[in-house]
Amino acid sequence: MKIAIYQFAPLWGNKAGNLKKIESRINHYSGIDLWILPELCTTGYLFDSRQILAPLTEPFPGGETCSRIEAVTKRNNTSLILGVAEEYNEKIYNSAAVFNNGKHIGTYRKIHLFDQEKLLFDSGGEPPAVFSINGTKVGVMICFDWIFPETVRTLALNGAQLIAHPANLVLPYCPDAMVTRSIEKRVFTATANRIGTERLSDGQQLTFIGGSQVTGIDGKRLGQLSRHEENVLVVEINPAEADNKAINQNNDLFVDRKPELYRLN
Ligand code: ACM
Repeated sequence: MKIAIYQFAPLWGNKAGNLKKIESRINHYSGIDLWILPELCTTGYLFDSRQILAPLTEPFPGGETCSRIEAVTKRNNTSLILGVAEEYNEKIYNSAAVFNNGKHIGTYRKIHLFDQEKLLFDSGGEPPAVFSINGTKVGVMICFDWIFPETVRTLALNGAQLIAHPANLVLPYCPDAMVTRSIEKRVFTATANRIGTERLSDGQQLTFIGGSQVTGIDGKRLGQLSRHEENVLVVEINPAEADNKAINQNNDLFVDRKPELYRLN
């Protein structure tokens, strides 16, 4: 499976501009099986209020972004996962929409909201989901979900071979933590982060750390982008490698678990 991460700085509040950027990147490449794009990459990340964010939200399916991404993935015979601001049942979610060869096949709503996201979004109430993309089991989580190892564990125990991870990272720890997530669960991970800086009207600002990467089942980085450049990272993986959880003749990372001994509260 050939995966491509598109790392860029979304244009704040400019869905039309971001969709144009995304479409032109995808049209420029061929032979990509799965694109992974950053969190909230059609809208930008920082908003002064929910009222300012609300007009940029859309239903999935049903909105223009959904139909444009369906069209571009169909035209290019590819699949794509991107972060969006989703309107659903009169709530607003920080979501990742999943497209398989021209069809929207599902949406994951971010469970663990980071900092001021709690003022803007509702948190997702469904378990993290695994999607089948041309035979590959792809688990989806968004940015800060990384700090809760339960997220990747749930996805991996449900069969995920690859974790697709749209992100808008600001803390420096995540790229190294994803190496550990791969080692712990023997899964591939693909973190699609953004670059650039955004500001609120009171002067608060966030700078995003780039460094989008793909890790292999042994934690090796199979590719990584720089902190500042807009670029595409293409990595070919064999997802079936993630099905073998043995690290030697006597240890299997899933068989050896002792859930009956793990106190959960
Ligand atoms: C984050 O979850 N966007 C840091």
